[in-house]
Amino acid sequence: MDNFVIHGGKQLNGEIRIGGSKNAALPILAATLLTRDRCEVKNVPELRDIRSTFELLNYLGKNCFYGYGDFVAEERVPLKLHAPYDLVRKMRASMLVAGPLLARFKKARFSLPGGCSIGLRPIDIHLEAFKKLGASVTYEKGDVVLSAKKLKAARVKFRFPSVGATENLMMCASLIEGRTVLENCAREPEIADLALALKKMGARIKGEGTVRIEIFGAARLKGLKHSVMPDRIETGTFMLACAAAGGRVRLSGVVPKTVDVLTRHLRQAGIKVSAFKDAIEINSSGSKPRPVNIITRPYPGFPTDLQAPWMAFMTRARGACSVHERIFENRFIHAAEFCRMGADISVQDKTAHIRGVDALLGAPVMASDLRAGAALVIAALAAKGKTLVRRVYHIDRGYEKFEDKLRRLGADIERVKT
Ligand code: EPZ
Repeated sequence: MDNFVIHGGKQLNGEIRIGGSKNAALPILAATLLTRDRCEVKNVPELRDIRSTFELLNYLGKNCFYGYGDFVAEERVPLKLHAPYDLVRKMRASMLVAGPLLARFKKARFSLPGGCSIGLRPIDIHLEAFKKLGASVTYEKGDVVLSAKKLKAARVKFRFPSVGATENLMMCASLIEGRTVLENCAREPEIADLALALKKMGARIKGEGTVRIEIFGAARLKGLKHSVMPDRIETGTFMLACAAAGGRVRLSGVVPKTVDVLTRHLRQAGIKVSAFKDAIEINSSGSKPRPVNIITRPYPGFPTDLQAPWMAFMTRARGACSVHERIFENRFIHAAEFCRMGADISVQDKTAHIRGVDALLGAPVMASDLRAGAALVIAALAAKGKTLVRRVYHIDRGYEKFEDKLRRLGADIERVKT
């Protein structure tokens, strides 16, 4: 397992280009199962989670090629309809193949995705919605089996605006003739990017990005050529890295609107943020920021995926603030790691209370999920001395060439293979 060794105290300066969105690419790659035609997806980031999806699609029978950000899927053999435990356990988003397989073949079998360090990650919202479309749900040896004689367009109301469930049902409904209405949908920008891809394949979709989405499915969908939107979470992670370490950084190839809520919070904390057409510039002295509370919420609220990076930034605030995690039940593991670096954080239920300290001190710490790992790197950049971040494979799941991009901005970081 690789580690990062970081010597803090260096400011970040310069420009980097943000890559394609992991959380937009994953459902769009799954959507290639909806058609036997050739699909080309560009701006796909080189990440472990993308590799896992590549492996799963190949296992199911797709003929996939991937290199230099371009992904091609072709189909020459009948597809398998079972996503096995060994592949699904690597990545929960593997269950995004369920909707396409059910829609096209009226059957899908996949291993129950396990939980992870941030929560149990149940899939009840997905399954309840599939039943509304006419699917039966059974369980066999740890697998979920979906099947249907015929699927029917229906009205589905999610009990919670689940991102994955919204994506799974949009894909499934895209092959069901008639009008399916999804209500209380997630509004994340990745949903709109998936809808754009599905429309290119022949589905008619209205309302993506709002709480109500209408899908007029087609009897058959065609292949697509699509370029994935920029990664708003990578964008926010680098904005917070510069805010914490200090310096002046320009992030190009971004959609500033998708990080509006972070921009507002950074400005409240005293950081200068300038937004341009497809770029964002952060200007930070690296001094102690004003304390600013956050509450994580579904988009357009503060994203849960930037909660840990924000906490890293607030460890040196001029006063006390709080972080309320409203999306996942266990997403504060990183708080204890920050405390190993000298931070003053206490956690009560779903709220972390942070009292700013003068400085963090480098220490050996451990990543517990991809965003917590990135947050530990942010803390290490701003800390005094040397930090060792273990289990970097978590970071590799969601950040392409993370240490290269940081080094290009002046950070003293290197990957040590163990
Ligand atoms: C997506 O996960 C993202 N992953 C997550 O990013 C992100 O944190 C999350 O949305 C919230 O924004 C991808 O897009 C691949 P949810 P997803 O269904 O779809 C509960 C990252 O760091 N829930 O919106 O799994 C669930 O337990 C990852 O890139 C149910 O109870 O999230 C959670 O508490 C981490 N039943 C809440 O809803 C269900 O059937 C939000 O989950 C589904 C979800």
